[in-house]
Amino acid sequence: MSANNEIPSIKHVFKGTLVHSTWNSPMEILENRVLGVGSSGKIEFLEEEKQQEKLAEKWGFNVLDIKQLNNNEFLMPGLVDTHIHAPQYSFAGAALDKQLLPWLQDYTYPTEAKYKDQDFARNVYTKVVRRTLRNGTTTACYFATIHTDSSLLLADIANHFGQRAFVGKVCMDKNEMYPEYKEDTSTCLIETKRFVDTLLNKKYPRVKPIITPRFALSCTEELMSELSKLAVSRDVHIQSHISEEKEEIQSVKAMFPHQENYCSLYEANQLLTPKTVMAHGCHLSDEELDLFKVHGAALSHCPNSNISMCSGHLDVSNALKRKVKIGLGTDVAGGYSASILDAFRRAMDTSKMLFIQDPTVDVLTYQEVFRLATLGGSQALALDDVIGNFEVGKEFDALLINPGAEGSPFEVFSDCIEDVIQKFLYLGDDRNIKEVYVAGRNLSLTD
Ligand code: GUN
Ligand code: ZN
Repeated sequence: MSANNEIPSIKHVFKGTLVHSTWNSPMEILENRVLGVGSSGKIEFLEEEKQQEKLAEKWGFNVLDIKQLNNNEFLMPGLVDTHIHAPQYSFAGAALDKQLLPWLQDYTYPTEAKYKDQDFARNVYTKVVRRTLRNGTTTACYFATIHTDSSLLLADIANHFGQRAFVGKVCMDKNEMYPEYKEDTSTCLIETKRFVDTLLNKKYPRVKPIITPRFALSCTEELMSELSKLAVSRDVHIQSHISEEKEEIQSVKAMFPHQENYCSLYEANQLLTPKTVMAHGCHLSDEELDLFKVHGAALSHCPNSNISMCSGHLDVSNALKRKVKIGLGTDVAGGYSASILDAFRRAMDTSKMLFIQDPTVDVLTYQEVFRLATLGGSQALALDDVIGNFEVGKEFDALLINPGAEGSPFEVFSDCIEDVIQKFLYLGDDRNIKEVYVAGRNLSLTD
């Protein structure tokens, strides 16, 4: 498309139905709209269809170049996976017969140790990035392994395919369960600095390092506090796990008896920041949730994992009431599915199950969980000024959904558009995801 000199050139214009969330409304359905994406990848305008001629003149595009969405098609923001272990994708869908600590010992640590081999890593990492993109994950927050070079490879692969991502080299200076999978404290710090600085120096536009102390049981306080200083000095994000499962919490108490609780341990070591995302939080007390709020730290709700590993449940409604930022995570492979659509469904089930157990709790609406999967996820990763919905000025991370796709796993009858969207969220899959955009770039994934 051509441009005049005064204003940015327009790369795509879409016409049709859009659905997104705002902080005022968990789901806003906008029909008969035109949305323009500039060559910078940002949304330049979002207006009513009847403005199209005026817009064409102002922005210098040809109305014939407008992409008209077909009947029942709609655009929605890209899905945000706030917690996924890329190396564990090799056993996603298997090894689900144990609870957290034996699961780590018997399956996870021995598997992750194999990622010292970069050829092994390349194969799995290519597949997990492709799979998550196909499933509509435009932003992923990854744990890799303790190996710096394989972790850098994951960042290269995400950048290559165009996915927006945070990548963490996993930090562990303790491992009683599987002693050969850890580093000594000083090596871990040196390697983490090398990882962060190398990745920052690559200047990838949308793939960034994230400091990743695995969890309290695998880190000394010295490591945690040095890592938090590194995060401050490089102005980068932090991720870890918290209060996932009861045996884990008992072990944390025994290991750090001087700390009041799990949250105060992390707080004392400066790990709770506005750029922190902690997975799970199933067993956090209200006082601990309030510490999240005070520090502006976020939770990643990973319901598939919490159910599959019999860990517990996060009461999302309560955490939201306490103004904690929350996104959804797959937690592959504790969670068996690499799809945020699955996380949407498991989050709905969890909320309803909590209501069955205690009718005084509020049930989440499907619109609220849609917001968690998109805008909430962007907020949990402190990216809500960049992505998460179709506000003008944000980058265009989006999915073009075709409910009538060949082989679609659901039918549309004479449904209203709201029900079509709801059916996609509950029943749809990658066959319905016709196009995936990150920062205005159509990432066509031909197999
Ligand atoms: N806690 C520490 N490591 C892990 C992990 O790999 N998965 C999950 N679900 N919890 C953890
Ligand atoms: Zn995890």
